[in-house]
Amino acid sequence: MTVRPQRLRRSQLSVPGVSEKMILKASQSAADHVFLDLEDAVAPSAKAGARKTIVGALNGLDWGHKTRCVRINDVTTPWCFEDIIEVVEGAGRNLDTIMLTKATRAADVQFVDLLLGQLEAKLGLERPIGIEVLIEETKGLQNAEAIASSSPRLEALILGMGDYSASQQMNLRTIGANGEGYPGDVFHYPRFRVAMVARAAGLDPVDGPFANFRNEEAYERECRRALTLGFVGKWAIHPAQIAPALAVFSPTREDVARARNLAGAYAKAVAEGIGSVNVDGVMVDAASIRIISNTIRKADLIGM
Ligand code: COA
Ligand code: MG
Repeated sequence: MTVRPQRLRRSQLSVPGVSEKMILKASQSAADHVFLDLEDAVAPSAKAGARKTIVGALNGLDWGHKTRCVRINDVTTPWCFEDIIEVVEGAGRNLDTIMLTKATRAADVQFVDLLLGQLEAKLGLERPIGIEVLIEETKGLQNAEAIASSSPRLEALILGMGDYSASQQMNLRTIGANGEGYPGDVFHYPRFRVAMVARAAGLDPVDGPFANFRNEEAYERECRRALTLGFVGKWAIHPAQIAPALAVFSPTREDVARARNLAGAYAKAVAEGIGSVNVDGVMVDAASIRIISNTIRKADLIGM
């Protein structure tokens, strides 16, 4: 089994690949992950120029510990193969992952995987470039299992709610909007499915965009919904969305301290031959410890 790189994805910041100013700002931001966009945030006439801007930024800027990702156009467009070739030939050593848009089947991901393999061999790149996939078509959600097991390079499945809602012809006004006349979370099913399929395949589930960037309260609510279902983070389309996502997707210091205490108390009980214990009126057993160990793993990754 392949060992996937463990990366933080609490906040994944989207940056139009045409804007040197925004790219510089993104490189200096607190986001865990930045993806430089060649797809929807770049007009068709500007795509070729954006590739050059992105290569320059990957090679020229200090990205700190951030994951550096480029979002490419989907496999049905005339841009996909050249997006990959130009970016990897130009900046393959300074690139961590490629994000594939609008995947509908395993073969879409395998196209990217094969091309990356050829480029890595040609360029002598020793560190494999990972793939993150957007589930944002009804067909993609339908074929999510096949997509999730399509390549050992896969690291994350992202629910792209803007295109997804268009693909299903949902009646929503803004990208990622929720609660407009629907009793409950309108994205509950796709969120649950993406989280479940991603976890079963050992991938990170990531929640997509929320366009109304001035509405921090609603953004935070969407982060919490995603967190509860097991997502590791959410996109930011504006710097104002970075801090709220980092806060929601990080355990609190109290949570971590409690988790470590409980794990210690339980280990002691087990050593004495006891499998379930009463901690302040709540039963703690092996399953509780499994839940707690998720918090500890997250805290270790963050360095808490
Ligand atoms: N990444 C980095 N910097 C960004 C940014 C982003 N995604 N969005 C805004 N900024 C910068 C602005 O350049 C501005 O910088 P300044 O203070 O140095 O001038 C600052 O943050 C404040 O921006 P603001 O004036 O509030 O917004 P705006 O009108 O400049 O931009 C959007 C609004 C929506 C056009 C912009 O946020 C954007 O393009 N977001 C990304 C869109 C995208 O990637 N879509 C595809 C994925 S869904
Ligand atoms: Mg999209």
